[in-house]
Amino acid sequence: MEIYHGNIVYSESVKSLKEIKSGYIIVDNGVIQGVYDKLPDEFSKYKVIDFGNNIIIPAFNDLHVHAPQYPQRGIAMDVLLYDWLNQYTFPLEAKYKDEAFYKSVYSAFVNDLIKHGTMHAVVFATIHSPASDYLVSELEAKGIKAYVGKVNMDKDSPDYLVETTDASVKNTEEFIKKHINNKYAKPILTPRFAPTCSYEILKKLGELADKYDVGCQTHIVESLWEKEEAKKCFTGCRCDMQIYQEAGLLKHKPFIAAHFIYPSKEDIELLNKCGGYAVTCPDATTNVIAGIMPAGNLIDTGINLAIGSDIAAGSYLGIYRQVASAVRLSKIKSLYEQDNRTISFEEAFYMATLGSGEIFGKVGSFKKGYDFDALVIGDLQDPFMELPPKQLVERFCYSGDVTSIKARFLRGKSI
Ligand code: GUN
Ligand code: FE
Repeated sequence: MEIYHGNIVYSESVKSLKEIKSGYIIVDNGVIQGVYDKLPDEFSKYKVIDFGNNIIIPAFNDLHVHAPQYPQRGIAMDVLLYDWLNQYTFPLEAKYKDEAFYKSVYSAFVNDLIKHGTMHAVVFATIHSPASDYLVSELEAKGIKAYVGKVNMDKDSPDYLVETTDASVKNTEEFIKKHINNKYAKPILTPRFAPTCSYEILKKLGELADKYDVGCQTHIVESLWEKEEAKKCFTGCRCDMQIYQEAGLLKHKPFIAAHFIYPSKEDIELLNKCGGYAVTCPDATTNVIAGIMPAGNLIDTGINLAIGSDIAAGSYLGIYRQVASAVRLSKIKSLYEQDNRTISFEEAFYMATLGSGEIFGKVGSFKKGYDFDALVIGDLQDPFMELPPKQLVERFCYSGDVTSIKARFLRGKSI
């Protein structure tokens, strides 16, 4: 049994960010037993681990991140999606056939993810099986709950970054078989996006989804170009989501729709029906995609929303900054398109913690029965104006960085 003392902030629901000043979290075997503002007598015999005035918050979830693009973060940000992919990203991803390269990048990526306080993630790898296996093994060894995908691309891709349909499906099945019984880092189907996937490959991935009960991640209506290109490639489909429905890829959980910036009514209905997640990646959106998810209005449809760093279209690995940017962008969206409502800080924090935690199990909050996956943040108070813990969490998201994170816990273990 461990008892942690400090200021405690966590989401109870989409609208409610709970704050306990000078509270206690009781943890047994890595699992939260209760949160109290006064320590109950029955626990008085245990030693208290005291974080004083620092704030204990849940660790973050990154629902859309490309591990192989980690070396490219913060560069090539002055072009749009199509050029960014073809000029920078595809040539970089081709390097993941090189063992020394992928081992050094993926080890650094996983360490930096944890350093930034992300302990649950949905991750793209590349088309390469050995590199993808290595990425899974690094996450599994660290105990990070994750879904990782070996990428499928079988058309309209450079010849140095493409597989035949059959090889891609066969390699994907091998990848699933190798990792399906992992404890933490599990496989997920990962057709890159509609423009680089044939209908045949999507159908065959749909069969794998049924055979192994695995979910699917992809990019959905991410830019005006992609939305139109998807409809051109799949002439029988009225919208991006319908392509994946027809292929049988919406039947298994989780379904992760990165970006979801220009959804039609039917896209929204299909995502809602399958219980999937729309992931806003605010930096990526401004850097290379040039569109803003209608987050507030989507929340009101009942869709599950989440936040992603989308490294390296996004340029910063810490999800806390994306929480701030999601709020910021919702205001710009609402300014230019007045039927869009803004989102609150509480809503954005929820999206990055409790709201998207469900796909990994009981993570993202400090309710009883949840994993104690937590960050201790500090050095946020200044002497000019005493701020309550909730506002210090907001300050962390807007102006903090890794140095604000003083300790990290994964299932009760300090890491
Ligand atoms: N669409 C297809 N591939 C990618 C990618 O790597 N990043 C982003 N942001 N969008 C994509
Ligand atoms: Fe992406």
